[in-house]
Amino acid sequence: SDPLKLGLAGLGTVGISALKRLVSMENELAIKSSRALRVEAISAKNKNKDRGIDLTGFDWYTDPVEMATSDKIDVFVELIGGDSGPAEDAVRAAIKAGKHVITANKALLAKHGNELAKLAEEHNVSINFEAAVAGGIPVIKAIREGLTSNNITRVYGILNGTCNYILTRMEDEGLSFEECLKDAQRLGYAEADPTFDVEGNDTAHKLAILTSLAFGHEIEVDSIFLEGITSITPADIAAAEELGYRIKLLGVAQKTDSGIEQRVHPTMVPQDSAIAQIDGVTNAVAIEGDAIGSITLSGPGAGGDATASAVIADIVDIARGLEVKPLGRPASVLEPYKRARMRAH
Ligand code: HSE
Repeated sequence: SDPLKLGLAGLGTVGISALKRLVSMENELAIKSSRALRVEAISAKNKNKDRGIDLTGFDWYTDPVEMATSDKIDVFVELIGGDSGPAEDAVRAAIKAGKHVITANKALLAKHGNELAKLAEEHNVSINFEAAVAGGIPVIKAIREGLTSNNITRVYGILNGTCNYILTRMEDEGLSFEECLKDAQRLGYAEADPTFDVEGNDTAHKLAILTSLAFGHEIEVDSIFLEGITSITPADIAAAEELGYRIKLLGVAQKTDSGIEQRVHPTMVPQDSAIAQIDGVTNAVAIEGDAIGSITLSGPGAGGDATASAVIADIVDIARGLEVKPLGRPASVLEPYKRARMRAH
């Protein structure tokens, strides 16, 4: 069959890692996909910036919307970020032009995911977002595919690598919050606007996406109870330690008698619990279901290569013809769930 032609928008930490892997693993990925994958076009704001990679072989677009709608590509890979603006415009344009979309953009999905799912359904294209939650951990596939026959009762975990990195270093090295945040930014873990990390918004975005998959619910981010880690001090961490606890920023979604409860807040977890062992940029997601009991997946939650790993898995799915309906089900089936009540605590 013809090569699957890709257009990659956004050449930041994740975009560059994805591009490098798609090029260096070209042969292996073609074998695994039974189809060649070819990066045909790329797009970013600044063409002249040195990104440490030769970009001369790709068609360059300054405007991602133009690339998204170009006949040269079959799949639009959105790694721009941001819940509106160019990322949103280009994703909408790509869907309307009949392109499959792959995105790592949890903020965009949290804000417009329900609507984009419907749009994608109308245009009979797939929108895949493994990289949007928990970086390199294949948690979307786990919930959507591996655990599909479970009645899921609870999903919770550490969903922001930056916060876990900060809390771990504050605890281990007694460093200040600000110092740790600077390092997380330098290492490419933090969001472009790191307040999204430390105020808990990024965790809430990811939690809302997991909730939609685990409970067949629409994405509903505004009602999530939200508290970040900005007011946590080394003294709080030391006090927790003395009591036998560690402080972790958790996102929790669970079924209750009155609906799905979603919340994000710093939590004291017993030192000997599995979640307390998760250090640094690592994320962990625990899923409880009636068939499996409980499983916990852990791994790198941020960083270029780990996140690119998830992006490329989505590309290979499409190359294999494993397109999925938006958010795991036809959008029309979402209607009854709209009535399910969300509540915050
Ligand atoms: N800023 C995010 C984090 C990146 O630290 O987890 C991955 O979504």
